[in-house]
Amino acid sequence: MLVSGSGTNLQALIDQAGDAAGYEIAVVISDRSGVRALTRAQAADIPISVVEWNADRRSFTHAVCESAADARAEALVLAGFMRILGPEALLRFPHRILNIHPSLLPAFPGNTPVADTLDHGVRVTGVTVHFIDERVDHGPIVSQEAVTVAHDDTEFTLHQRLHEVEHRLYPEAVSALAQGRLTVVGRRVVWS
Ligand code: GRF
Repeated sequence: MLVSGSGTNLQALIDQAGDAAGYEIAVVISDRSGVRALTRAQAADIPISVVEWNADRRSFTHAVCESAADARAEALVLAGFMRILGPEALLRFPHRILNIHPSLLPAFPGNTPVADTLDHGVRVTGVTVHFIDERVDHGPIVSQEAVTVAHDDTEFTLHQRLHEVEHRLYPEAVSALAQGRLTVVGRRVVWS
């Protein structure tokens, strides 16, 4: 798992890991120390690794990949990870890097999707789980679910409802990946 912040998605994935789900979390890698996600990992006895951002994407990506490989991770699962990985990650984990984003991509990519959603005034938004490709918030879509925007929503209240959906959608998707039930055909992801 790759994280940078609070790690509520990490927690949902920890809570559902095991034989039935078909996955275990080998290591939690963060680009910054002292974040809540690392505390959650430690509380669950999952190894942690801090790979500080060093302003060089190539060597940072290499260090992240090495850390994941050392832990024998078979996939990278990003949840609130605030760094963009370079090409080495795509080569080493082909169609094995997932991300979750709190909008219905391709709408509202980037770092402030929930604020952008409210600013734009859309009435329906949602959550997207997708594979990573060479472009930001762009790869093949694994799953999506819509969330209605309330008239009095703030960024906080809307993100809270999006999180509830995320915590259900992401474990399902990670499980499907781990069980070999996701096949990428062009931009489409076929579930079996
Ligand atoms: C989530 O909303 C996720 O979609 C986005 O960053 C947020 C991370 O939240 N990429 P958390 O750290 O899992 O609580």
